[in-house]
Amino acid sequence: LILIALHFLLQPLSVLSSLSLEKMTIKHVLVPIVMEAEATPFVEHLELKPVEDFFPSNTPFLAFSGAHGKTKVTVITMGKDAVYETGVDNVGTVPASLATYLAVEKIKTMNDGNDLVDLILNAGTCGGFNRMGGAIGDVYLTSGVANHDRRIAIPGFTEYGHGKLTSDIDPTDMAKELGFKTGIASTSNSLDKTDTCDKIMKDHNASVKDMEAAAIAYIAKMQNLPYMGVKVITDIVDGGQPTQDEFFENLASAAKSLQSALPKVMDYLCDEKRANG
Ligand code: ADE
Repeated sequence: LILIALHFLLQPLSVLSSLSLEKMTIKHVLVPIVMEAEATPFVEHLELKPVEDFFPSNTPFLAFSGAHGKTKVTVITMGKDAVYETGVDNVGTVPASLATYLAVEKIKTMNDGNDLVDLILNAGTCGGFNRMGGAIGDVYLTSGVANHDRRIAIPGFTEYGHGKLTSDIDPTDMAKELGFKTGIASTSNSLDKTDTCDKIMKDHNASVKDMEAAAIAYIAKMQNLPYMGVKVITDIVDGGQPTQDEFFENLASAAKSLQSALPKVMDYLCDEKRANG
């Protein structure tokens, strides 16, 4: 009973913590996109330029910057694996959180601190779910994030492990206007899933399965910055096809879809008329 009462008492607090788009003026968007193949069409479309010496020289991360209208855009990718010398993209939570943190800190030191990041927009591919009405190619705006591989059965640690965060931006109206879907992204460091992962993803009410969203949202929270994910479905988690085959089959078209979705999301978020009422 006490827990139920607390739940309802805390509800208004979480509503209050979500930012109103009317009050937001967005001038600099940081866009972490983990894989090069996901980022390239967008980087080329906006004609973003590589930024030399943006990240410490002993990291593999890359940065590209430019503008979309009046909005400054910095895309970061996590680069290629040099530790195991496989040369594949550095997917997963560790590189994503480190690169995002370093990028926010670096931008604080640039242009006399006049160009601070005001939004982290994490873009990429994801798995979707038949049971949540998802289909290949659907674009999702994330309403929240959670983890499904951090299981710690000790009071307090359980919630920390699940790491649920509600989006600072309510994406409902934006998704309606742009023809996208909304849903919760659940993150793990695995492309596949176990039955336990699936049970936890169901508990999270997840519509999107990825490998970075919760980690990047955690850094956004630490940096006191709003976070939203823009994710395109490449494969259906509960669809019966091998994930890796579906993923590679649809990666290029998903990247193209991100190229067209991201400017629309930025136009919506950076609309000065909306921001100024
Ligand atoms: N990225 C694309 N598809 C994915 C999946 N099924 N799981 C995690 N990350 C993904």
